[in-house]
Amino acid sequence: MNSASLHITWSVGPAQRLAGDTAALFLHQDATEFNRSMRSLQKSFRFDAKSLIEHGDFSGKSGEISVVYPSGSRGLKRILLVGLGERKKRSMETLRKAAGAAAKRARSLRSRSLVLWLPDAKTSPAETALALSEGAWLGLYRFDKYITKKKNGNDESLLHLHLASDRPTWKRVLPAATETAAIICSATTLARDLANAPGNEIHPESLAEAARASGERSGYTVTVWNEDELREHEMGGILAVGQGSVRGPRFMILEYGDPAKRPVVLVGKGVCFDSGGISIKPSAGMAEMKMDMSGAAAVIGTFDAVACLGLNVHVIGLIPAVENMPSGSALKPGDIVRHHGGKTSEVDNTDAEGRLILADALAYADSLKPAAVIDLATLTGAVVVALGHVVTGMLGTDASLMDKLRKAGERTYERVWELPLYDEYERLIKSDVADVRNVGGRWAGTITGAMFLKKFIGSYPWVHLDIAGTAMMEETSEYVPKGGSGVGVRLLTEFLRQWK
Ligand code: BES
Ligand code: MN
Ligand code: ZN
Repeated sequence: MNSASLHITWSVGPAQRLAGDTAALFLHQDATEFNRSMRSLQKSFRFDAKSLIEHGDFSGKSGEISVVYPSGSRGLKRILLVGLGERKKRSMETLRKAAGAAAKRARSLRSRSLVLWLPDAKTSPAETALALSEGAWLGLYRFDKYITKKKNGNDESLLHLHLASDRPTWKRVLPAATETAAIICSATTLARDLANAPGNEIHPESLAEAARASGERSGYTVTVWNEDELREHEMGGILAVGQGSVRGPRFMILEYGDPAKRPVVLVGKGVCFDSGGISIKPSAGMAEMKMDMSGAAAVIGTFDAVACLGLNVHVIGLIPAVENMPSGSALKPGDIVRHHGGKTSEVDNTDAEGRLILADALAYADSLKPAAVIDLATLTGAVVVALGHVVTGMLGTDASLMDKLRKAGERTYERVWELPLYDEYERLIKSDVADVRNVGGRWAGTITGAMFLKKFIGSYPWVHLDIAGTAMMEETSEYVPKGGSGVGVRLLTEFLRQWK
């Protein structure tokens, strides 16, 4: 994938020395500041600001981008003036969005390199640099490895980002900030690539292979259980959902960090394709269900980032991976499944398969004596009805853990919104023949899904993130293209950077 091969560098020095295809300069719309920055940038970069302002072509509003050309031929071909809107409203997200839009404009002008000229840091310089890099890098992402004839008949990738400033103080933050950005963006790209990959490429065994490869590259261990080992460990839910496919199920255990610390356990739903099984889905939109392993992708991406960053934490990842398929050997409505730990569930609908495999993983997690367990799953269509593609649904048993995730969500803009887990919902998943039923009827689908999971947790603090809306995007925005968003990687990495 081209965005994985992006390079990011930095320099501190006079603007006149910059070279490359395009430089992006960021400006606020506030009048006095706008005029002052325009004058100083004009002096450094020597472009025709006068006619631009006279014609009212650029005023620094958020969303505006104007192309101008430096006079006299130095190394720099063109300049993008990028609006940041009002200074008092500027956030990290303003910077991500502006940089994402600028990077895509630069690419459409066939730039192979882009200089991001750093605006003054409103809060932390490191965060300013990170936000701009994230926006540009993630905005340039596309899943085009299967397109043999690239647009315009040639490869028009933008391959090089360069963060630059003429203020000497930036020297102290840019080395670490650019490295952090590269790690976090590659990890997010990895998660997007895994989600976007078609079902004939990513199935349980190849997903496990991708985790192993990331583990070897970045420095964490990956253990993979095959079907025999799943039987040995009595993972009845994973085996039951996996039994309808010719591609057998797997269970992955990822581990990073100091084993003396109690681990944070991350669980990711790894349904490599969800046809619905015998309770088969309608064909319209079924192709999207190749992304039903987005939770698993987020866990793998997070491990990739956390290991590369060398965070001082102990993390264990659990990924049940299956294909949910209809066949003569498939799980059927009415079947009763015995999960890890012994609890049973009645399968009323084979399309509620995510909770069946997560139940085993959550029950198994208790044996790891975790300090916290967070699961990520594209679990319910109901969460998309409730929250759209804007925010992740969060349900859990521990207020302080949810607070930490809420904060990490605000900082990364991978935001989460809590839904209740009141006891009154429990009767909706009561079964006459087993400990619990895997569907709860028409109402409160996201909550009944989480209530099912809650039956299987151990004595640890637990949070469930329903990412069905946020992991799969229907349209492209500034730095999140249509398709797999990689949601969860930046959220969990930030959460773990702040952990203890
Ligand atoms: N993977 C789906 C949930 C989903 C739906 C994700 C739409 C992304 C977009 C899940 O396995 C599923 O099929 N859930 C059912 C549950 C129902 C049968 C209780 C659903 O949401 O309809
Ligand atoms: Mn399903
Ligand atoms: Zn599913």
